[in-house]
Amino acid sequence: MTTQIKSLEEYKEAYQRSVSDPEGFWKEQAETFTWRQPFDKVLEWDFDGPDVKWFLNGKLNITENCLDRHIEERGDQIAILWEPNDPTHAVQQYTYKELLAAVCRCANGLKSKGITKGDRVVFYMPMVPELAIAVLACARIGAVHSVVFAGFSAQALADRVDDAQAKMIICSDYNNRGSKLIPVKKIVDDARAIGCDSVASVIVHQNTSDEIAWTDKDTWWHDLIDGQADSCEPEMMDSEDMLFILYTSGSTGKPKGVVHTCGGYMVYTCYTFRNVFQYQDGDIYWCTADIGWITGHSYIVYGPLLAGATSMMFEGVPTYPDAGRFWEICEKHKVNQFYTAPTAIRALMARGDEWPAKYDLTSLKLLGSVGEPINEEAWHWYNIHIGKEKSPIIDTWWQTETGGIMITPLPGITDAKPTYASYPMPGIQTCLLDSDGNELPEKDVEGLLCIKFPWPSMVRTTYGDHERCKLTYFSTFPGMYFTGDGARRDAEGRIRVIGRVDDVINVSGHRMGTAEVENAINEHPNVVESAVVGYPHDIKGQGIYAYVITQDLETDDAFRKGITDVVVKEIGPIAKPDKIQFVSGLPKTRSGKIMRRILRKIASKDTDNLGDTSTLLNPEVVESVKSGAL
Ligand code: WTA
Repeated sequence: MTTQIKSLEEYKEAYQRSVSDPEGFWKEQAETFTWRQPFDKVLEWDFDGPDVKWFLNGKLNITENCLDRHIEERGDQIAILWEPNDPTHAVQQYTYKELLAAVCRCANGLKSKGITKGDRVVFYMPMVPELAIAVLACARIGAVHSVVFAGFSAQALADRVDDAQAKMIICSDYNNRGSKLIPVKKIVDDARAIGCDSVASVIVHQNTSDEIAWTDKDTWWHDLIDGQADSCEPEMMDSEDMLFILYTSGSTGKPKGVVHTCGGYMVYTCYTFRNVFQYQDGDIYWCTADIGWITGHSYIVYGPLLAGATSMMFEGVPTYPDAGRFWEICEKHKVNQFYTAPTAIRALMARGDEWPAKYDLTSLKLLGSVGEPINEEAWHWYNIHIGKEKSPIIDTWWQTETGGIMITPLPGITDAKPTYASYPMPGIQTCLLDSDGNELPEKDVEGLLCIKFPWPSMVRTTYGDHERCKLTYFSTFPGMYFTGDGARRDAEGRIRVIGRVDDVINVSGHRMGTAEVENAINEHPNVVESAVVGYPHDIKGQGIYAYVITQDLETDDAFRKGITDVVVKEIGPIAKPDKIQFVSGLPKTRSGKIMRRILRKIASKDTDNLGDTSTLLNPEVVESVKSGAL
């Protein structure tokens, strides 16, 4: 197993070593895994390409490290514990032995459908154990998984399937979410009606007994695995072979496929899981994320299983059947580590202190937060009402592109200050730059957050468009990985991540490109132009504020609904604008660029100092936008 830091001294030592001798540091961690062929070089890198390779020529299969290598010592320990949406339904659990067998059966089923190494398989599924099983089955045979969050629309799904040229889609019939039943398979059918020509087969997991339409490309999951052997020789993968693609939004229109590879991702997710969550044998660890996002990939599936942990998966939502559900589950399963998003904490905080007070939360040893800045009020509520001021809170900063947690307090080891993600993990060389690219080494300073040295689980490319990877992350400041986030460093060297500095907004912890939402709004036939910005939202962190210029004068709520419907159709309900303001014009520079800074201020009701607007192409429009603000 990768090492587990136990004291501040050990953290400092590990950090120093990881900077002075990064290759030696990571070599030692990597050697704790099962390699079919040892790597012969630790690292080759060039951020200009970018071209980054870790553990060169090493051969491995990540599932052998997640499953097979644990069988002897913990074959009968629970690997995945599953809590259903409906609390009266049965819990499911898979021991490591059972999970290995289930993964192998599914892997053999995928092979029987002609899936082989390198093929892309897209997932569109609820949080059921079969999602984790099939993801691992892909990794077992070297197929590349790309999980699409099941809240995206048919159009968004088709875009991703087409970009990945996926050969197969794996879905469920229906998704149970709170009191709603979402027709997942129907959305897959709709996606296939508008694209997905590369798809040769669709596997349908039966989650309910409700009816669905059937096509000749469809196979039931239970038929796929029926009679399959429960062993499957793992495909030998090169350390730098692709493990998965995960689509994420950026500042330009189209989502991009972030590519992670096998060796480095394995080493870093296991190392961070063990250290950040301080997992001990026998603990029950619960991350409430969805496997459709990176947090679910790294800290529900891969990190915990690599570390031989018991990882809980939850099918439902925090407020069903009531706002006590999370805490009821913590009590029921005696959860030790609990990892969630600030938006969930704020939503539950708003429901009142009486909900957590009903349950015994004494098993909790650690509370985690991820996905967006956690505000001070939510931090304190989490600390007092959930952790009873006894469980350290870890505010973990990282990204889809970083693969694993980058900046975080280590519980009980380094100090934690509300709203500060605090200190970099060993191996992570963070720095703050000014907008000219000068490093700001001083304390108590604000700047653009960059990373100056590679780490094992970093993004290797954006699928099918390497140039985009270079442009997005490695061109703003040559020689550096640019995160897109602004941050502050305090006098003690702790880092506080403030938020995006690009045109990406973070809505309930979901990354959304403003251009992506604008493109969707512009699909409405009566919309002439639109501009989307984020604004502070009590529960969601940021809300979506849309300024819309229309062709007709009819700017009523029905029209607003029409616009919302288009966004839901193009992207999905997660991108619904919270506010739509109809405007006659948008403030623009003389070169025709929308002045988002002004629109952001108006949306945030921060209009005292809009700056100099006299140089705008149309200064008169500012007053009218301001007076019509919602
Ligand atoms: C934001 C989620 C402040 C940040 C793992 C980043 C955070 C983006 C934090 C990545 C945090 C994530 N504090 N901001 N602890 N964690 N972010 O790719 O803006 O979905 O760039 O990865 O979320 O979102 P993503």
